[in-house]
Amino acid sequence: MTAQVIDGNALSRQLRAEVAQRAAALTARGHQPGLAVILVGDDPASAVYVRNKVKACADAGFHSVLEQYAADLSEAALLERIDALNRDPAIHGILVQLPLPAHIDDHRVIEAISASKDVDGFHVSSAGALLVGEPGFKACTPYGCMKMLESIGLHDLRGKHAVVIGRSNIVGKPMALMLLQANATVTVCHSGTADLSHHTRQADIVVAAVGKRKVLTADMVKPGAVVIDVGMNRDEAGKLCGDVDFENVKEVAGWITPVPGGVGPMTITMLLVNTCEAAERLGA
Ligand code: GUN
Repeated sequence: MTAQVIDGNALSRQLRAEVAQRAAALTARGHQPGLAVILVGDDPASAVYVRNKVKACADAGFHSVLEQYAADLSEAALLERIDALNRDPAIHGILVQLPLPAHIDDHRVIEAISASKDVDGFHVSSAGALLVGEPGFKACTPYGCMKMLESIGLHDLRGKHAVVIGRSNIVGKPMALMLLQANATVTVCHSGTADLSHHTRQADIVVAAVGKRKVLTADMVKPGAVVIDVGMNRDEAGKLCGDVDFENVKEVAGWITPVPGGVGPMTITMLLVNTCEAAERLGA
């Protein structure tokens, strides 16, 4: 059996076309959605991500600004910029690319962003809203994973067992909550969980979000399961790859997301969706 591939590029094209229409309607009413992206330092991977985010904004008809600062920018100066963007009526979403240099406190910076402009969904109030099932911005990567499940007809996950490997604040934890909200039975594992394959082999849905190659191999997957790969790693040849041993797992799984072309484009798509929603809320 060979798994069907969930094409993140194709799904993104469809969702971005819808968001571009919403943006055009807002622009016609004088409320063009606007995103500010802040990059501190010169991490090459982060530089690529922020460029892609800004380009996606332009393609969808959004206003966007990219603010790039040297790695020695002070925390106070960054907080000042965020304060100015919080008050800028042309900006509906503010994204500070992580990781930040070690001398800057991520938490303080994220909390300085106005909750109404927290389109990354990283604010404590956004995370809290997700926890209690209230409306709020959802973290873009797990939100994109949920859209991928919906795209294959998995809306209500009642009776399904989902296993999330990884428990970061920006993927694993919000992913688990979104799966719970969709009525799945959820197990959250660590890459070091004892007998990890015992858990994953029971899963109807596995989400791998560790950041390490081959965390999920074919022997760990129940035949027919849905496998979502959030990883972004490089193999020995420098080629982009995920956390899943794609070549072998695809022979066991029912559905699988590729890397590249899977979750990655969906993260940016959901950022556009959140920014559009922020503009609708702030400018309606
Ligand atoms: N670093 C890795 N993923 C993300 C993300 O989704 N948003 C931000 N701001 N930084 C990241």
